[in-house]
Amino acid sequence: MAKFNRYLITAALPYANGPVHIGHLAGCYLPADIYVRYLRAKKADVKFIGGTDEHGVPITIKAMQENVTPQDIVDKYYKIINESFAEMGISFDIFSRTSRQVHHETAAAFFLKMYNDGRFEEKESEQYFDEVKQMFLADRYIVGTCPVCGNDRAYGDQCERCGTSLSPEELINPRSALSDAVPVKKKTKHWYMPLQDYEPWLREWLLEGHKEWKNNVYGQCKSWLDNGLQSRAMTRDSNWGIKVPLPDAEGKVLYVWFDAPIGYISATKELTPNWADYWCKDDTKLVHFIGKDNIVFHCIIFPAMLKAHGGFVVPENVPANEFLNIEGEKVSTSRNWAVWVHEYVKDFPDQQDVLRYVLCSTAPETKDNDFTWKDFQDRNNNELVAIFGNFINRTMVLMHKLCNGKVPAFHADVKDAKDDALMNALQEAKQKIEDALENFRFRDALQEMMNTAREGNRYLQEKQPWILAKTPELQAENQKLIDNCLHLCLQLTANLAIFSNPFLPFTAKKICHMLKVVDRMLEWENAGSLKLVSVGYSLRPPELLFKKVEDEQVKAQVDKLHAGLKKSAAVTTPATPPPAPAAPPKAEIQFDDFAKLDLRVGTIIQAEKVEKADKLLKLLVDLGTEKRTVVSGIAMHFKPEDIVGKQVTLVANLAPRKMRGIESQGMILMAEDNGKLVFVNPAEMVSPGSGVS
Ligand code: 2FM
Ligand code: ZN
Repeated sequence: MAKFNRYLITAALPYANGPVHIGHLAGCYLPADIYVRYLRAKKADVKFIGGTDEHGVPITIKAMQENVTPQDIVDKYYKIINESFAEMGISFDIFSRTSRQVHHETAAAFFLKMYNDGRFEEKESEQYFDEVKQMFLADRYIVGTCPVCGNDRAYGDQCERCGTSLSPEELINPRSALSDAVPVKKKTKHWYMPLQDYEPWLREWLLEGHKEWKNNVYGQCKSWLDNGLQSRAMTRDSNWGIKVPLPDAEGKVLYVWFDAPIGYISATKELTPNWADYWCKDDTKLVHFIGKDNIVFHCIIFPAMLKAHGGFVVPENVPANEFLNIEGEKVSTSRNWAVWVHEYVKDFPDQQDVLRYVLCSTAPETKDNDFTWKDFQDRNNNELVAIFGNFINRTMVLMHKLCNGKVPAFHADVKDAKDDALMNALQEAKQKIEDALENFRFRDALQEMMNTAREGNRYLQEKQPWILAKTPELQAENQKLIDNCLHLCLQLTANLAIFSNPFLPFTAKKICHMLKVVDRMLEWENAGSLKLVSVGYSLRPPELLFKKVEDEQVKAQVDKLHAGLKKSAAVTTPATPPPAPAAPPKAEIQFDDFAKLDLRVGTIIQAEKVEKADKLLKLLVDLGTEKRTVVSGIAMHFKPEDIVGKQVTLVANLAPRKMRGIESQGMILMAEDNGKLVFVNPAEMVSPGSGVS
């Protein structure tokens, strides 16, 4: 008996604060859709859940920027996002919204159950407050310098440069993202989830139980767990979101990352009265498709919430993808460096499958990858048109010409080794595609599909039925051989419809139409069959499945990207890892401000890794008269043994800070060149302790 009897597939709920771009598609929606279409073709019991995430700071900030209400923002973008997915064939069973009543009720009840079971710590603490805007500043409302890598545009929840998860208190020089004011501390009460309590269970379930997860996902989770989990506030001070369902919680809402994943449950409830079968029965396979920035929430926090609540299944896999860059640069919605899905479908009508094909071929499955319009053109022209489309078109044209438009018989008495080889190749391809899809290797699966079309072309080329039919006399003599060739090519065409259906659903339908078969033929159990089109059946005339993408179209798209970027008057950010925006100019200061800095040259005399902290090195720096311990976020850039003996410049009078329990007594100056860190040191060796002015 199969271990799983039903599948629950979720794709991250995008914030309804902007349209979706092709990076979103490649990151999670397309792989999720391919997987779901494959499962449906296997007649599995599957529900595909999606929707928009309509709470949290991203929404309220966008509303402030556009001077409209948060409700206006989410209504506008829900519609655009929903339409974009529908047009691209992302076949959600439901595309819901976290602003719906059912979700508010479900999330509030989830919180209340955890509260009643004593799963929260109620804590009053001092938090940053913007006196200009009269608002508490959590998450992305607050920005400052990252204590790990020095990025001065880190958010209160995360540094996007080095990926470290942060709290506002950890930011150096914090300021309000809304007013730029320096925030003050003010008392507020919140409900915290002690994530550390779930650490033993998470280790057992995830680190021991799911070693098969993708390396990028498993590695990030391990690092989180090894760094030690801490209590995390599950509520916020805001008037936009789901109200905390407690009597003494005026002005408090659920943290967006508490409510959003519960959105998967609410949407399933909205979809079917049998929702609990999917969420509560152990023989459900729950798979979350997400982008890499969502890993911790789906692999650690949400599973811990599900465990704390009790009664729910936890994910069986979270096949997160990395990021897709565009034309060598990191996607940036604020700089408008993106290919927007709603624009693509207008610019390339009826060519959704081309984008699906290109995005799947270059999907960032194991590392960040690049999308270029030139590659889009090449893959369309050289693969979809020249291989896949060409094989099917030749088959249909030849069948009409040499077999009277009817499926010819297969004559076993003239079968040869080439026929056998093609039939074997078909069986092998089926197995390989299945294996790749089951293991979330969508690029490999797609490649196998295309290889099958390649085999078809090779077979046609070897058999050359047009030569066998060069004259009417020859044709009469060779008709059996011609029949066999086109019979097999037609069966292969039908199989290509089945193989391509998860990836290229619009194309698969067109093939069914030409072959005059019903869509039910696309069921996976038919894959590999050589009886998909019936002998003697007359077929429709061929229609071209793909058309060439012209150079002018490529140029127009590249120009459009650059023109859009100019509008927002920004510089591009090279995508070479790790992406690091150039530091913006800072406000002018007086000499006295500068003179406050005590800068000294020191020599690193010891360097070691900080236990359970991937990014930190503990350094001992000799300043001549004294030695300082400095914790620096440079472990991803330097090996400890390589930097002992190097001279560095130290901010020697920075107030000491504790990092991972170690007091750091200064900060080392680094120059950053597109993500590469370089020590700032004098041009010649100087005595340790020399002042810099
Ligand atoms: O990163 C994002 O766009 C989030 N809105 C994803 C949420 S996924 C789920 F938890 F809802
Ligand atoms: Zn950082």
